[in-house]
Amino acid sequence: MYGITGYSNGYHQNQQQHSSEEKRGGGRRRRGGRRSRHPPGFRVSDHHHYHYNNDDDDDKQEQKAPLPCTDFDMAYFHSYAHVGIHEEMIKDRVRTDTYRAAIMEHQSFIEGKVVMDVGCGTGILSIFCAQAGAKRVYAVDASDIALQANEVVKANNLAEKIIVLHGRVEDVEIDEEVDVIISEWMGYMLLYESMLGSVITARDRWLKHGGLILPSNATLYMAPITHPDRYNDSIEFWRNVYGIDMSAMLQLAKQCAFEEPCVETITGENVLTWPHVVKHVDCYTIQHDELESVSTRYKFQSMMRAPLHGFAFWFDVEFNGPTNSPTNNHIPSLLTGASNNNHIDGIQKKKRANPNEALVLSTAPEDPPTHWQQTLIYFYDPIEVEQDQVIEGSLTLSQSKENRRFMNIHLEYSSGGRSYVKESVMR
Ligand SMILES: C[S@@+](CC[C@H](N)C(=O)[O-])C[C@H]1O[C@@H](n2cnc3c(N)ncnc32)[C@H](O)[C@@H]1O
Repeated sequence: MYGITGYSNGYHQNQQQHSSEEKRGGGRRRRGGRRSRHPPGFRVSDHHHYHYNNDDDDDKQEQKAPLPCTDFDMAYFHSYAHVGIHEEMIKDRVRTDTYRAAIMEHQSFIEGKVVMDVGCGTGILSIFCAQAGAKRVYAVDASDIALQANEVVKANNLAEKIIVLHGRVEDVEIDEEVDVIISEWMGYMLLYESMLGSVITARDRWLKHGGLILPSNATLYMAPITHPDRYNDSIEFWRNVYGIDMSAMLQLAKQCAFEEPCVETITGENVLTWPHVVKHVDCYTIQHDELESVSTRYKFQSMMRAPLHGFAFWFDVEFNGPTNSPTNNHIPSLLTGASNNNHIDGIQKKKRANPNEALVLSTAPEDPPTHWQQTLIYFYDPIEVEQDQVIEGSLTLSQSKENRRFMNIHLEYSSGGRSYVKESVMR
């Protein structure tokens, strides 16, 4: 814990108590593509102190005990202690500029108010909020990057305003409710990393009635894609290598290239139809159990004749005002999980012709690239589709039981009279 005495930080207390506990394996953090190593020698207790600071607030829902901090979580937080991951995120100008614009756009909700930055990293969003006039910002991060955030805050003479708490948002304690929650929680395919659960926890513990959450909502999309260059480069290549027939490598090449989801950049030209909404998230109302498993049925009609190589996934987030704001009616821009092609009025929204529309951070193929790129699930073998041919099936994304930071993907698809199933894990 840093800053003002009296703010408790479950993380360090528990850390000391359990310093001799055994380590288990870590996970891999996709951003930056590095393999996480387990931090040396400690684990946070399964027995957490957890209560509301404002005991007489009837509006708050009954809280379940937070999920224990596992060794996988520790490995996850450890991966965020590396400077490279923060450099990559901060240098993503689409991301960082949109957050800053959203903060400035909501200045009237932030000025003179109390803010919590869930997962503050280097503290950049906390500092933007302080610059927007926040009275106090609680900058919470369980990773050791919080140590750096504290130094950055001091170096910018903001220690009076920004209180850096080094601990899990599930474990730290503060003595007041907050007017605003800001967080950059989105993982690949939106839900990978499972950080949204921590924003829900912060919301239910501390957000005042009518308070502001930035971003306010998020949408995950999927669409069928064609990508001959990628397929030729990884697979067809083996048919003729320096004049040698290496077709014996084909099966292995397909397995190695396409077993897991790939984080790559595609363009609008790769996309065969309008996208389908897999999941819409309203950050004001979403509950933990909705995130354990997300299922949808989809039906596309290819707009052209092409080899179908798989599906692309991307997301956008919107920065709307709080629930009781007259400027915001919280109607999602797109319906959730509809089974037909959900025509993407979101694309028009992103252009934001009307400044009264919500600010949007988009990771769509037709928009400027971000560090999230797009996530591709490739088939092992392409399917030749004709114009107007139907591609349909279902998708289930579920948190891995072993490590909820990982995501199990169950994809069923059929086209041209044949059906297929692909299981993969994003780890
Ligand atoms: C995607 S980074 C964003 C960092 C920073 N807000 C920014 O925008 O540059 C997410 C951060 O949240 C932290 N984090 C994730 N879950 C957390 C939790 N439950 N409690 C505290 N920090 C958490 C991670 O350690 C990481 O530093």
